[in-house]
Amino acid sequence: MQAIEVKPGIYWVGAIDWSIRDFHGYVTPKGTTYNNYLIIDDQITLLDTVKYTFAEIMIENIRGLTDPSKIRNIIINHIENDHVTSLDRIMKLTPDATIYITQKGKQGLDRFFDTSKWNINIVKTGDTLNIGKRTLLFIETPMLHWPDSMMTYIKEDKILISQDAFGQHLASSARFDDDFIKSASISELEDSVIDYYANILMPFGSLIKNKIADINKLGLDIEIIAPDHGIIWRKDPAKVINMYLDMANGKADLRVVIVYDTMWQSTEQMMIPIAQGIEAEGVDVKVIKLRATPLSIAVKELWRARGSLIGSPTINNTIFPTVGEFLTYLKGLRPKNRIAGAFGSYGWGGGAVKQIYDELKLMGLETVEPGIQILYKPSTEDKKLCYEFGRKFAEQVIEYHKKFV
Ligand code: FEO
Repeated sequence: MQAIEVKPGIYWVGAIDWSIRDFHGYVTPKGTTYNNYLIIDDQITLLDTVKYTFAEIMIENIRGLTDPSKIRNIIINHIENDHVTSLDRIMKLTPDATIYITQKGKQGLDRFFDTSKWNINIVKTGDTLNIGKRTLLFIETPMLHWPDSMMTYIKEDKILISQDAFGQHLASSARFDDDFIKSASISELEDSVIDYYANILMPFGSLIKNKIADINKLGLDIEIIAPDHGIIWRKDPAKVINMYLDMANGKADLRVVIVYDTMWQSTEQMMIPIAQGIEAEGVDVKVIKLRATPLSIAVKELWRARGSLIGSPTINNTIFPTVGEFLTYLKGLRPKNRIAGAFGSYGWGGGAVKQIYDELKLMGLETVEPGIQILYKPSTEDKKLCYEFGRKFAEQVIEYHKKFV
């Protein structure tokens, strides 16, 4: 790999992680990239770094443009490990450089490194840094998605370095949206945006709306959005902003996703007529069996659908472990604007379906009750009840969906 020009004098110097499949527990079937950027100006400036395992690649990319000892400024937009853990390698090469970071970022940085000998400038929204022909404007974005997060706008080039926001876990030889679309498709890129949003940014929908409004108030003219993961938006940056606004406003497809697991296939046998009942109402269905599907993919599919049904057998008076794990993950992501229900089989005494409803309500989701529980194995009559349950759930989903169209 080598540096890639984003605009004259501004280069991507990051790394492509083709093989990562587990990103802190989040499954990344398409790998990822760690994007960071170098500006060659009177004061050479580096924006972000990369995960420590890719430090050498980044340094080689920089060496292809300049001697790293000439870097004067280092902007740290975000201190999560995938972006900051090679900072010490850079600081060894240019120990007199000045780091620009938010107050919260500095607190975190002190936990990663001995920063006592580093020059560090704390910045806040509205602060600027002139580096020669260019001015950098800092915009704090706390909780998008960490307390330290910020973005950097390069005024003269109209580039927003957006750190995690607007990114995707998507390894590709293409660096830009227009290049990516030539060899793949816009829908693949959109899917990666949704996947990233669902698993990383779902809890922060209202903050996203407010921050995009703040950026609009600043009157920034944005030609390029350059995130710290995945594809850079230069052909159509408005597309990803609009996707974020749509998702933050509750956009979902008129679809039901059934997320379930099964012990002796009784819950699975309930799932089939439930899905048929939903389809009978003209609503699309997607089925996710948890033992066959990573949690992050299940969450993405739930996020894409207006309705979801969670299916679990009762085991030892509680929810099946994989379903419990899914609900725990989902609870942290705080889904909104979705309607949900539950079903499941049991042998001794029930319990899982009620417990699932308790969890769904704790999340603040709209629920359709009652759910449906079947003793041991669904009979022909039980399967008819399941079909009716699916049909009635679909009717409720159609009604609920009207609020958003
Ligand atoms: Fe890509 Fe929040 O780190």
